[in-house]
Amino acid sequence: RGCKLIGCGSAVPSLNVSNDDLAKIVDTNDQWISVRTGIRNRRVLSGKDSLTDLAAEAARKALEMAEVDPDDVDLILLCSSTPEDLFGSAPQVQRALGCKSNPLSFDITAACSGFMLGLVSAACYIRGGGFKNVLVIGADALSRYVDWTDRGTCILFGDAAGAVVVQACDIGEDGLFGFDLHSDGGGQRHLNALIKDNETDHAFGTNGSVIGFPPSNSSYSCIQMNGKEVFRFAVRVVPQSIEAALENAGLPRSKIDWLLLHQANQRILDAVATRLEVPPEHVISNLANYGNTSAASIPLALDEAVRSGKVQAGHVIAAAGFGAGLTWGSAILRW
Ligand code: ACO
Repeated sequence: RGCKLIGCGSAVPSLNVSNDDLAKIVDTNDQWISVRTGIRNRRVLSGKDSLTDLAAEAARKALEMAEVDPDDVDLILLCSSTPEDLFGSAPQVQRALGCKSNPLSFDITAACSGFMLGLVSAACYIRGGGFKNVLVIGADALSRYVDWTDRGTCILFGDAAGAVVVQACDIGEDGLFGFDLHSDGGGQRHLNALIKDNETDHAFGTNGSVIGFPPSNSSYSCIQMNGKEVFRFAVRVVPQSIEAALENAGLPRSKIDWLLLHQANQRILDAVATRLEVPPEHVISNLANYGNTSAASIPLALDEAVRSGKVQAGHVIAAAGFGAGLTWGSAILRW
């Protein structure tokens, strides 16, 4: 049994925050941000905007393109590190889509690599589990976890959602040729948003006896990042991973029509493309408009590239995600 991508969609919040807007709250400027990152604008959830609604909107557009009815979806994977329910928001996306068949839906947490893990998981569910139509959604609102006084991180992130429909097909039509996925917990110190230490460790007791009860208001600290280390990590592992995925796919580099990387920094995109000898005009980039949207960045960039006619039926895409965990992974796909 094979699987293929048959639809994509995306959604972004209406509020735009430009580099000039950020220069009003931290000591930065448009030139520094755009030269170092390629980012000029990002969209941010505001007021009562909901990430779940954004995810559902992206999913609805993907289902429309795929001409698949929500009732025919049998698995929804919501790739997100910022769900609105600690227990997972995928069932709320399923509810918003109105899927009457109660398909299985659950969250996958793997930061900026989440969508790649979701995509490969969808393929495994289809190939091994008899699932037919799988919605893979990448949706994140890192703006909720950014320290807006830290100019080293707050300039990078934006909020968005993107989705694809993966459908079972004959093996001859298979559209996922090869993949390569990894993680390294040893690198957590370079990029994390850890649970706050509210003394829960000590409040329950010592030497086996209860001495008190901790306050039940755990929350997470803001994103902590060593930008230089993350940069080095990405430029080292992503080309290796794409080479491994190409080898698994049995394809040479020359078959890549599009390089579709997690949109973290234009300099990372350029460095990876140079290492893989992919010409700049074959690199998909929409960083300037949205910044780093974590798990949403790959399906958001794919959706724009498909709808603008850049990516066309039959094109081969080398896609790769990388980020906190540390996690990283690649897949060689046919659109
Ligand atoms: N505006 C102006 N100056 C700044 C800013 C800013 N926004 N941020 C930092 N600076 C200053 C620093 O204070 C430093 O000043 P100093 O020389 O006086 O000490 C100088 O600029 C250089 O700072 P660096 O941190 O060394 O800058 P660098 O070239 O490394 O760029 C950046 C920083 C853009 C963050 C880069 O390291 C990067 O993009 N790294 C990758 C980050 C990334 O992709 N993270 C997301 C991973 S995905 C996920 O899972 C969430």
